[in-house]
Amino acid sequence: MSELNNIALKILKNGKGILAADESTGTMTKRLESVKVESTKENRIKFRETLFSAKGMSEYIGGVILYDETIKQKTNTGKEVPRLLSEMGSIAGIKVDTGAKKLAGSPNEKITEGLDGLRDRLKEYSKLGAQFTKWRGVYNISKDYPSKLSINSNAHALARYAALVQECNMVPIVEPEVLMDGDHSADDCFKKTSEVIKKCFEELLLNKVDLTGVILKPNMILAGSESNNQITYEETAKLTVKCLKESVPSEVPGIAFLSGGQTEVQASENLNLINKFNDTNFIMSYSYGRALQQSALRHWAKDINDVEGTQAVFDHRAKMCTLAAQGKWSKNLENI
Ligand code: G3H
Repeated sequence: MSELNNIALKILKNGKGILAADESTGTMTKRLESVKVESTKENRIKFRETLFSAKGMSEYIGGVILYDETIKQKTNTGKEVPRLLSEMGSIAGIKVDTGAKKLAGSPNEKITEGLDGLRDRLKEYSKLGAQFTKWRGVYNISKDYPSKLSINSNAHALARYAALVQECNMVPIVEPEVLMDGDHSADDCFKKTSEVIKKCFEELLLNKVDLTGVILKPNMILAGSESNNQITYEETAKLTVKCLKESVPSEVPGIAFLSGGQTEVQASENLNLINKFNDTNFIMSYSYGRALQQSALRHWAKDINDVEGTQAVFDHRAKMCTLAAQGKWSKNLENI
């Protein structure tokens, strides 16, 4: 078994998942302002440290995706963040793309940037203790989109990123996110997501990426958030498994879904059913941002010094997600 495969499996073993705490300063500011907390450097690390030192980390969270600011910050007790994570039994990861920008040639779509100078940044992050990375490509669905140009360009960038990351002995999370925004049908989401994922793997192979050392971070198959034809949880789970079974090469060890705007409970319910219907060898777990942090953030905002209370809310959510990743979640466990 390769070293990279080992890292990927360690992150996702026994129902463990990933905490995506890699919001850029801009996004984190929006999140903090939505709960009326000032977005200072100190407050950002204070919230994150509260989660990273929660008891549930060692049982449920195999890896944490950090943002550039956070991986270089020290905790209240003067510890480097990657060291705290490692003491909690979790692995530090880092978001390395520099964001989605207007795609020349199709200005209503986005291309993710960040390849320039990436090799040197990766060396620095690796020295700081990161063992895996994330790059997110983003696609919107409408009659004309995603265009071939967006599908090809983002797949190319994701593959060049993944090759550089493996060269530096880290596991790349490949995240092609087909957005929920819009009134498209679940069938459209299925077709577009399949096309996007297949193109990504075509490019990964062309770039000689070792698929046994990759984690795929896809969206689930859902109707657009403004569609009048929403599908059931069961349909989402079946379509999601079908899409991945048909589009992802069997060498890939693990799939960790993004939550993409689903509520916390929805994201757990869907993941749970996905695991009940999972007839593949892929581990199917989570790499949630909002669906792991939302209620903890709301609780914390009421009293930013309530470490224990906030951690209890976070631990519950992480436990629900890990149970869902094993197909053992049920709605009555949500009533705490
Ligand atoms: O890139 C997206 C994030 O890592 C996952 O965030 O679960 O809130 O969609 P989300």
